[in-house]
Amino acid sequence: MSATSWRTHRCGALRAEHVGQRVHLGGWVHRRRDLGGIVFLDLRDRDGLVQVAVGPAWSGAEVVERASAVGAESVIVVEGAVVSRPPEARNPEMATGAVEVHATALRVVGPAEVPAIPVARGKGEELPSEELRLRYRHLDLRRSEMLHNLTLRHRLLQRSRRTLSDLGFLEIETPILTKPTPEGARDYLVPSRVHPGECYALPQSPQIYKQLLMVAGFDRYFQIARCFRDEDLRNDRQPEFTQIDLEASFVGQDDVLEVVEAVLVALWDEAGAAVPRPFPRLAHRDVMERFGTDKPDLRYGFELRDWSGPVAAREIPFAAPSLANGGRVRGIAVPGGATLSRKDADALATAAKELGGSGLAWVKRQGDQLSGSVAKYFDVESLGGLGVGDGDAALFAAGPDAVTSTVLDRVRQRVIERFQASPAIPHAFAWIVDFPLFERDPETGQAVAAHHPFTAPHPDDVDRLASDPLSCRALHYDAVYNGNELGSGSIRITDPAVQRAVFQHLGLSAEAIESRFGFLLRALAAGAPPHGGFAIGFDRVTMLLAEAGSLRDVIAFPKTTAARALFEGAPAAPDAAELAALHLRVIP
Ligand code: AMO
Repeated sequence: MSATSWRTHRCGALRAEHVGQRVHLGGWVHRRRDLGGIVFLDLRDRDGLVQVAVGPAWSGAEVVERASAVGAESVIVVEGAVVSRPPEARNPEMATGAVEVHATALRVVGPAEVPAIPVARGKGEELPSEELRLRYRHLDLRRSEMLHNLTLRHRLLQRSRRTLSDLGFLEIETPILTKPTPEGARDYLVPSRVHPGECYALPQSPQIYKQLLMVAGFDRYFQIARCFRDEDLRNDRQPEFTQIDLEASFVGQDDVLEVVEAVLVALWDEAGAAVPRPFPRLAHRDVMERFGTDKPDLRYGFELRDWSGPVAAREIPFAAPSLANGGRVRGIAVPGGATLSRKDADALATAAKELGGSGLAWVKRQGDQLSGSVAKYFDVESLGGLGVGDGDAALFAAGPDAVTSTVLDRVRQRVIERFQASPAIPHAFAWIVDFPLFERDPETGQAVAAHHPFTAPHPDDVDRLASDPLSCRALHYDAVYNGNELGSGSIRITDPAVQRAVFQHLGLSAEAIESRFGFLLRALAAGAPPHGGFAIGFDRVTMLLAEAGSLRDVIAFPKTTAARALFEGAPAAPDAAELAALHLRVIP
């Protein structure tokens, strides 16, 4: 075995056509079995597994001894002959299962200690806890599922690059040590050593830079961009994540949606799914009314209804305070919902209360029998008027729209799970358009940008910007898929006066505008083309296409929900000298 060429073949590549060939392989010992003097090793590399048989007749006693001592997950190199397995020994579940390699030489080049977590898993055997998997990520990444997910990720990245490059987009990198970009999260700050007391911010997105590239005339930009946001984490959020970020000049909303659709369809195609175009477009106001969320799962029905009228007419006590305060009664009719038990209904009501609602009222019909918390206010006929027939149920929430939307969105998701509704279509993409330009922060009452402050107001609403800003719509659009937000974008403000007015409306002083965004305002005054763009959340797309339950399963080295890197141990306390060099002191 020459040192310059370790291998002639990959383990997973061997097939019947290789029978009779001498091969050199390298890989990890996946499993070892000692059977009647013969040692069988499943040898694993990136391409798969092959069975290596080590026996006295063809390997010699010394090689057999070495093979029987080799530990799981050790790296070995093997030389041997590919032979056909006898029919009864063939393994149809293994791609290489028709052959095995009779080793004539075997060397342990990377001995392994007993692995802290197992890599080989029997059928139905559970995964170790996620904490252990992340702590021993070098072993966890050896699992075939992780290999599959990261290989898919690679293919999706290459496909997005090709697709955007073919559409005339230039891949341009933007800085990581930057000035803050407002995307609604806290910044990760990097203190400067050479400028005491000053910090760089890691980019929450390349938003401002991509707009500057448009001002500079690059016309079509994209980047596989790493973004950093210090925010509460969930299974679909990481503190550092990747966007397929793009921006184009002399475009309107339709042009941007067309490009993004082309990219998304290409990505789904890469994963083997055909998706029809164009995606339906739904106004923000309408989806909030019909689903209570701006990322509805459109694979299912169970749309929300306004039942204020019928409930008010029956003077049902649970709704009276809300109706008197200008709230509404909204609800969901659940076909087949009569199988809902009191326990189910109580669980839904508890969930509703946790979300800030006053609970959930319900009624169900079985034949002529009505039951549930508000059954006595209805009869068969009045329920029929709500679209609730025999065997169905109705669920009601009362309150301001913000509350009933949150509650009924959650209830709708639970109902979909509980009734295991079968989806009408497998891939429900949609564009949500006509978002509001501003929202009110529920805690501070201050107006905040619904997307980010660079988003252009809707041309039909721009004259209300000063008089009634909360009623203005924006040229902001989101892509949603099966209840997930895949990405967001907008047409941008190019008039420095409008941009300044938006900053002012967001409560920024003239000084703050100058110090934070003066450079952008000057660029916009230097000849800015109309432009707009989008960012696809690439980790989310990969998670959905890999059918993984968490972003952590499609990122090689992710953070925990407590924003820790368990394997390498980050964040970590800097030593005193490092702190001093950065002019920092820790306040306990
Ligand atoms: P936005 O902030 O909506 O828009 O981000 C775009 C998409 O990025 C993904 N995303 C995340 N993925 C994982 N972890 C996170 N913490 C996280 N935060 C966001 C989501 C989201 O839809 N500059 C604008 C885009 C533009 O206007 O062009 C932006 O960043 O899938």
